[in-house]
Amino acid sequence: MKPRFSIVLALLFPFLAAAGPSAVAQSADPHDLYEQRCAGCHSEHAGEFVQESVLREDGKLMGRDGGMSVRALLSRGHGKLTPAQVEVVLAHFHEILDAGALFRDNCVICHGRAVLFARSHLGMKDGVLVGRYSDRAVDDFLKSHGRLEGSEISAVVKALSNQVTGETYRLN
Ligand code: HEC
Ligand code: HEC
Repeated sequence: MKPRFSIVLALLFPFLAAAGPSAVAQSADPHDLYEQRCAGCHSEHAGEFVQESVLREDGKLMGRDGGMSVRALLSRGHGKLTPAQVEVVLAHFHEILDAGALFRDNCVICHGRAVLFARSHLGMKDGVLVGRYSDRAVDDFLKSHGRLEGSEISAVVKALSNQVTGETYRLN
């Protein structure tokens, strides 16, 4: 089936995208939401899905194949989210694109792909991202390494932590 045609189908028949247990009906956790409502039909990880299928144009999230506004798609019932859950998922997608762009612009040149760098050089210790051999906390280290500032550091640390644990989303 051609992607554009199936998007039309998905729009006309939102109940086709209505799979998923009602236990998540109230969930506000973006990882639970993605896993329960989207992963059945799309990539296992939100990060992969966003990198492959979502673009940002003028600050708006758009489907890469269909060129549709993601907000419009989800608001019409695709994935069967409540309006509040739509906001959670959209914010999460922005977060993924932000972290991906930061890593690409500031780190890739020396460290290569985030997922490989994180898995070979970093680890989690008591919930804190650390250098696997140096044992130093990455958020402290980045204050004087890599030219990120403020919230950019926490965004990248969060994304790299996700690469290490593999539980939530992958960057690239
Ligand atoms: C029942 C299956 C199903 C579920 C569940 C589902 N989708 Fe989809 N989705 C599709 C199909 C089919 C398409 C159109 C073909 C394509 O691009 O993969 C699509 C298209 C999209 C697109 C447009 C992609 C593009 O390249 O234009 C986005 C964005 C999207 N879905 C997001 C989501 C999100 C977010 C969720 C969870 C809240 C979700 N979908 C849940 C089946 C599903
Ligand atoms: C100009 C090349 C360069 C750039 C750009 C760069 N790094 Fe590094 N990075 C290195 C080198 C070389 C080391 C190893 C030397 C050291 O540990 O001080 C390192 C070490 C690290 C470590 C420490 C790992 C440990 O074992 O403690 C982390 C974490 C890290 N980089 C993350 C980043 C992030 C995130 C960015 C982007 C914001 C970035 N780096 C940008 C070259 C770079």
